[in-house]
Amino acid sequence: MLVVDQLTKRFGANTAVDNASFTVDRPKMIGIIGRSGAGKSTFLRMMNRLTDATEGEIRFEGRNVLALKGAEKRAWQSDCAMIFQQFNLVPRMDVVSNVLHGTLAKRPALSTVFNLYPREDIHRAIDILERLGIADHAAKRAEALSGGQQQRVAIARALMQDPKVILADEPIASLDPMNAQIVMEALRRIHDEDGRMVIANLHTLDTARRYCDRVIGMRDGRIVFDGTPEQLTTGVARDIYGAGADFSEDATSTEIRDPVAETEIRQAEVAI
Ligand SMILES: Nc1ncnc2c1ncn2[C@@H]1O[C@H](COP(=O)(O)OP(=O)(O)O)[C@@H](O)[C@H]1O
Ligand SMILES: [Mg+2]
Repeated sequence: MLVVDQLTKRFGANTAVDNASFTVDRPKMIGIIGRSGAGKSTFLRMMNRLTDATEGEIRFEGRNVLALKGAEKRAWQSDCAMIFQQFNLVPRMDVVSNVLHGTLAKRPALSTVFNLYPREDIHRAIDILERLGIADHAAKRAEALSGGQQQRVAIARALMQDPKVILADEPIASLDPMNAQIVMEALRRIHDEDGRMVIANLHTLDTARRYCDRVIGMRDGRIVFDGTPEQLTTGVARDIYGAGADFSEDATSTEIRDPVAETEIRQAEVAI
């Protein structure tokens, strides 16, 4: 179903993703773990074609993802919806309109300009919000909602695309434990009930163990672990995080930071 073959991404002399390969034969819930700077986000961004790979291939159901152009590339981006740590909603816009944004890729430009949504899309948006337990907030501005609710709006927007794959980049890193649980359970349910593949970069070990069927561990751009939650022992985790004997199971990638990577990202952001 999904084949990632010798995927590499370099930024100058820095190799963010280094010869990564894995295959997935049916929809799974996959967690990617590793310290900050390990290459997790870069991998998801290549999957979604937000950034180009330097070398290697991604194939999904026969499509050569990295070679797609124009309309085919947009169709692929619609097939693999992204969810971000910071939700990326339009804060002042109401919740339903934010969700309806998920259909933009499939609509003619002019109807977009005039904010004209087909009635059936509006009903579908409300149904999805209902499913995620936030339909009561449909008319509110997104910014009025809690972080956990906003992330569920972002999931609703993703579902509006009817994607085959959901890519989530640290979807719960900004949430308190209770909301984190609600969001992870929503993703798991979407996987179980709809048969959509979910690939989530996760910043805590226990989340990966609890919700995922398969865990991929990245270190310095390389895949250093690929197995079941049961195989992800403390020793293996210590190796993935490159942490010393003081490694704690509660440690997270947001705590175990790579200072060099952090500086580079800040510099890159300033440059943009
Ligand atoms: N746009 C960019 N320009 C330059 N270097 C980048 C850029 N994005 C990521 N990197 C570098 O690639 C490496 C992997 O980063 P990233 O994929 O964000 O890791 P993670 O998501 O695991 O924290 C880091 O060394 C980071 O500094
Ligand atoms: Mg990241």
